[in-house]
Parts: sequence; C-alpha cells; structure tokens
Amino acid sequence: MTEPLIYELSSPGRKGVVMPEPDVPLAELPSDLLRADLPLPEVSEIDVVRHFVRLSQLNHAVDVGMYPLGSCTMKYNPKVNEVAVRLPGFAWTHPLQEPETVQGNLALLYELQEMLAEASGFAAVSLQPAAGAHGELTGVLIMRNYLYDRGQRQRTKILVPDSAHGTNPASTTMSGLTVVEVPSDARGNVDLAALKAALDETVVGLMLTNPNTLGLFDENVLDVTRLVHEAGGLVYGDGANFNAIVGICKPAELGFDVMHFNLHKTFSTPHGGGGPGAGPVGVTQELAAYLPGPIVALSETEEGSLCLPQMPSRSIGRIKSFWGNFGVLVRAYTYIRMHGAEGLRRNSEYAVLNANYLQARLKGTYPVPHGDRTCMHEFVAQGRIEGAEGIRTMDVAKRLIDFRFHPPTVYFPLIVPEALMIEPTETESKETLDAFVAALLKIAEEARTDPDLLHTAPHTAPVSRLDEVKAARELKLCAPCY
Ligand SMILES: Cc1ncc(COP(=O)(O)O)c(C=O)c1O
Repeated sequence: MTEPLIYELSSPGRKGVVMPEPDVPLAELPSDLLRADLPLPEVSEIDVVRHFVRLSQLNHAVDVGMYPLGSCTMKYNPKVNEVAVRLPGFAWTHPLQEPETVQGNLALLYELQEMLAEASGFAAVSLQPAAGAHGELTGVLIMRNYLYDRGQRQRTKILVPDSAHGTNPASTTMSGLTVVEVPSDARGNVDLAALKAALDETVVGLMLTNPNTLGLFDENVLDVTRLVHEAGGLVYGDGANFNAIVGICKPAELGFDVMHFNLHKTFSTPHGGGGPGAGPVGVTQELAAYLPGPIVALSETEEGSLCLPQMPSRSIGRIKSFWGNFGVLVRAYTYIRMHGAEGLRRNSEYAVLNANYLQARLKGTYPVPHGDRTCMHEFVAQGRIEGAEGIRTMDVAKRLIDFRFHPPTVYFPLIVPEALMIEPTETESKETLDAFVAALLKIAEEARTDPDLLHTAPHTAPVSRLDEVKAARELKLCAPCY
C-alpha cells in the first residue's frame, strides 16, 4: 500500500499548533521577507507524528535488526550513552566557557585520553579528529612533520597494503605524500618480500590495518613493524578493527607509532549519517609533541589541580574546532566506564567468536578465501554459489534485505572478487546468528532454483533494486519514494 505524503494529507485551515493571541502590538514585517504563497502542508499534530514515525520505519538500523556491515562495526549503541550525554552538566555547557568553569567536562576528556592510551599502549592521545579518516590524515601529518624536523625531507612515500580501506590512500594523498601499494601474500598477510623491496630512505612509513580488512591478524606484524623501523620509517595503525583486540593486545606493543580509534566502531558511538563522529589519535612518546591540540593536561595551579588545555610544542596545529565532538566523546567514555577493562575484553572475544561461528557455518556454501585461518571479528566470503553461476554478490546482498537483514559490505576489500564481508559484532545472540545463516543458506538454494528472485530483489523493501550510482548522484529528497 502506498502511504500518502504529508502534502497529500493537507487540508486548508487544519492546524497542528494553536498559537496564543499576541499580547504585544502587531508589527509590520518587511515585505521583502514575506511570501504570499508558502506551500506548507496544513496538517494536525497526529498527521505529523505519523508521517515522521513512518519515515523512521522505512530505514534499517541496528535497533531494528542485525547489521553485519564488515569493516564498519555497526555496533549496538547502548541507551545509557544517550542518558549520559543528556545530563544537563554536559548538554548545557558552551564550548567557549572558561576552562575553570567546565572542570567536570575537561576531567572527562582527560580520563578518556588516559583510558584510550591505556587500552592501546600509546603515551599520548588527542581527541580532536572527527572521524577515522580524519585521524588518518592527522597521523600521516604527524609522521611527516616528525621526520621533516629530523631533516629527512627526501621521505615522500607512504606504503599502503592492497587490502587497505580507501581512506588510507586518500589521507596520504591529502597530506601531499605519494602512495605505494604493497601486495598481500597467499595467507592474507603483508607480503614481506614486497615490503622489503619497497622500503628505502624515501619512505615516511607504512599504514597498516591490523586485524586487516580480510579479517585476519597479520601473522608477521612484529617483522613488518621492525622492517619499517629499520628503514627509518614509522608505522601508522588504522585502528578501525580495534574492536577485535581490545584488552587482548596493545597496538603500541606491536610496534605501531600512531593509531586512530574509530569511536563509532569500537566504543559504541553512533555512526550518525556522516557525523558528528570522533577518531582520536594515539602516539608514542617520541611523537607526542606533534599531536593536534588542545590536549587536556592535569596542571597544578594556585587553585589546586586543574584540567587545562595544552598545545603540544611541535603540534601539527588545530584540526577541529573547540574540544572536538564533545557529545560523541561523552558517549565513548560512558561505554568504557560501563564495561570496564574486563568487559571490553569480553566484548572483543565475543565479536571474534561470533565471526568465527558464522565463518564455520557458511564456508561450505559461500567460498571463504582464507577460511582455513581463524578469523578475527569479521571475515570475507564470496557471493559465488556452486550451481548458480549467474548469481553475483549484489544479488545475494539484496535478497538478504527480504529476510530483514542489512546486507554485509560488498565488493570490498578489492582484492577478493565478489567479496561479501561479514561482521556480526559481539551483541548478536546465537539465535540471531542462526537466523542469519538460515537466510543465507536459503538464498543459496533459491539461487539454484529461482535465480530471478535474487536478480530482482529486494521485494519487500520500500524501494526495489536501484541504480545505486544514479541514486547517489541524483538524489531526490522530495519526490514520493515509497
Ligand atoms: C578499515 C577502515 N579504515 C578506515 C575507515 C575510515 O573511518 P571513518 O569512517 O571513521 O572515516 C574505515 C571505515 O569504515 C575502515 O573500515
């Protein structure tokens, strides 16, 4: 059934709000600001409520069902985070208030810096960057400036494995450096021979995602970081997959010099339609002076110990206004305090267990190129089904929507043809995982017996198969679409 649009419900004179009679004289309004005709819908309050509630129900969300979007860690956002961030002391402060008047807020930022440093093993953390990609740019600039300060201006290249997320080469290019791709080996690790061949005195460093986007912990990570250091370079850690290892191992101890944290992946803050987000960056002691500020430092003053802003001495500068995205930082802080160190470790263990359970149950039907290895919190299968040669990953993904599951990430990482990248996260129960497996097995059966059902899927969503490029390039926000 097609629901009426809000404009179609409009009836002349119908009101959602009754304004009180004015108790001041009416003023003449400037005529150039007035329009004779403003075609707003005239609707009652309940019409408006129903309209927006219906719109909210057209979308899939973690609060609606499983969202196994690999590499994106669509983690459940606990509601206690929202309670915390709405506390008046957080919600009603202004970013321009004097630090002495917002000591509680600054203490929270200070503690969050400390907790992230503790979990990762880094010496210092800046909470400024607004997303993972922003953290990458920050980290690469830190590495570059550090080496330039040491007279190494001939270093202009960043090595990026071929399994990396697209933001890695993008951040490198934005920082003015050149990307050199490093292949993966047959087991999905960085190819050590290729790495050695690429390392020389022109290399700033390597950007490494570990666990990588194949869902694999690099078995040679200690050799990788050692080789880069021996060549005089630095190692950037893309911490997007930190969710698999929190409380189990510390990236700094693996030899990483810099790493960003995606708070919306590992620490349960909302992904939020593009923002606001937060991608704090941790660094070793050697690089601490280069962090973007302000950092919150504990300072002894005449009034006692205060949390005060500090600009590191060789800072790359400001990369975000005020204190970063404070509301997001409060949510991450709440999540960390709610779980504690033990709980965070348990979450990582469950995330890995859930992914391995799915991998084990699905690999007989959907090929998993590295299925002989234990995966971390995600794994990469392929949308190729024996006996259904015309079926592609996109068909499987779209058909999953009819089973009320959000599709996994598709066609990424680029090195796996027909990639179907599955990340269940730690909060899904065994029942939900089993239902997801049952849906994928049923789809494989349909692929063999009724392939058109997949080619034309989804059948139950508000919109059916879209030309996704056209839909992104020619957004129609007003036309009826459901
Ligand atoms: C491996 C990896 N690196 C970096 C990013 C970029 O993070 P953000 O989306 O916060 O900019 C992502 C995002 O999905 C990712 O999966």
